[in-house]
Amino acid sequence: MDDLRQKYLTAIDGASDEAALEELRVQAVGKKGEISLKMRELGKMTPEERQVAGPALNALKDEINSALAARKAALGDAALEERLKGEWLDVTLPGRRRPMGTVHPVSQVTEEVTAIFADMGFAVAEGPQIESDWHNFDALNIPDHHPARGEMDTFYMHRAEGDNRPPHVLRTHTSPVQIRSMERQGAPLRVICPGRVYRADYDQTHTPMFHQVEGLAVDTDISMANLKWVLEEFVKAFFEVDGVELRFRASHFPFTEPSAEVDIRCSWEGGQLKVGEGDDWLEILGSGMVHPKVLAAGGIDPEVYQGFAFGMGIDRIAMLKYGIPDLRAFFDSDLRWLRHYGFASLDQPTLHGGLSR
Ligand code: PHE
Repeated sequence: MDDLRQKYLTAIDGASDEAALEELRVQAVGKKGEISLKMRELGKMTPEERQVAGPALNALKDEINSALAARKAALGDAALEERLKGEWLDVTLPGRRRPMGTVHPVSQVTEEVTAIFADMGFAVAEGPQIESDWHNFDALNIPDHHPARGEMDTFYMHRAEGDNRPPHVLRTHTSPVQIRSMERQGAPLRVICPGRVYRADYDQTHTPMFHQVEGLAVDTDISMANLKWVLEEFVKAFFEVDGVELRFRASHFPFTEPSAEVDIRCSWEGGQLKVGEGDDWLEILGSGMVHPKVLAAGGIDPEVYQGFAFGMGIDRIAMLKYGIPDLRAFFDSDLRWLRHYGFASLDQPTLHGGLSR
C-alpha cells in the first residue's frame, strides 16, 4: 500500500494538465483501478486481516481523491494566473487614437453661436418643432390669410376627420420660441433659441429641414442701435476676423417694425464660397424691433417694454465660415463628407479657448 501511495501521489504532483490527472484517477480509483481491485480482494481475507486492510484502503482512496482535487485546483489557478498575465492592461496609459466620429458642422456652429451669445448675457431657450398654428403665426402678427403664410411653404400636420381646429404645423421659423419665452419668463428677457425649422424648399442653399437661431432681447430701453451692435459683435467673434462687412437692408416682417435683413459680403469664385471678400452678398438673417402686438401676445406690456429680435440661418453661416458650397450635403449622411467637414469630438468651442480650433 505504501508503494501505491508513493506512486500515485508522485504522479499526481507531476501531472501537467487536467487530462493527465483524469488518466491517473482512472488508473488508481476508477472502476478497474489498482486500488479498486485491491478493495475487491478484501472478500477473500480473513475477518482479522480485513479489519486492518479495509480502513487502510479507504483512507488511501480518500487521500488520492484529495490529492487529485488539490492538484486540479492548483492547475486551475496557474491557468488563471497565466491568462491574467496575458490580458494585463495598464489603465493609466493615455488613450489610443482610433478613427472616431466627428461633430457635424451644424452642431459645431450651434455651440459656437451659443458660446458667443452666452458671453453677451443671452440664455438658451427651446420650443417644440411641432408647433401650434397660433404660436407659429397668429401670435407673431401673421393672421389667417396673411400672404406671409403662403410664402413660408408650410408643412401642415394631419388633422383627424371632423376636427375643425387649425392644424399644427412643423414650425417654419424659430420665432414662435419668442412667444413661448415671453409667456414663460416675462420681461426683461434675453434669450437665443437654436433649433430645427421646416419649409418645403430644396436647392443649393435650401433644404426642407434646416436650422435657425432666434435672438430676443426685451427691456425698457432697447433700441435698434443695440441690435446692430450685438449683431456686429457676433459676426466678428463668429468669423474670427475684424473685417467682415454687413449690409442692413430695410425689409418687412409682420412681427417686427421696423425690420431689416442682413447680408454678408462673400464671393463664390470657382464654386468656392469665401466670406469677407468679393461682390456677392448672402442673406444670413432677418431682424427688427419686436412689434407691439407680438409683445402683447407674449403677455408683455408694449407701453413699458420694447425689444429687438433676429432670426439667423445656422446652416447658412456654417457654409460661409467653413466654405461648404452645397447645403444639401449637410443632410446626406455621407461619411466622407462628415470626415472632411466634421470637428474633433472632444473640442468644446469657447471664447477663451478658441471657437473652431
Ligand atoms: N422668422 C424670420 C424668418 O424666418 C426671421 C426673423 C426673426 C425676422 C426675428 C425678424 C425677427 O425669416
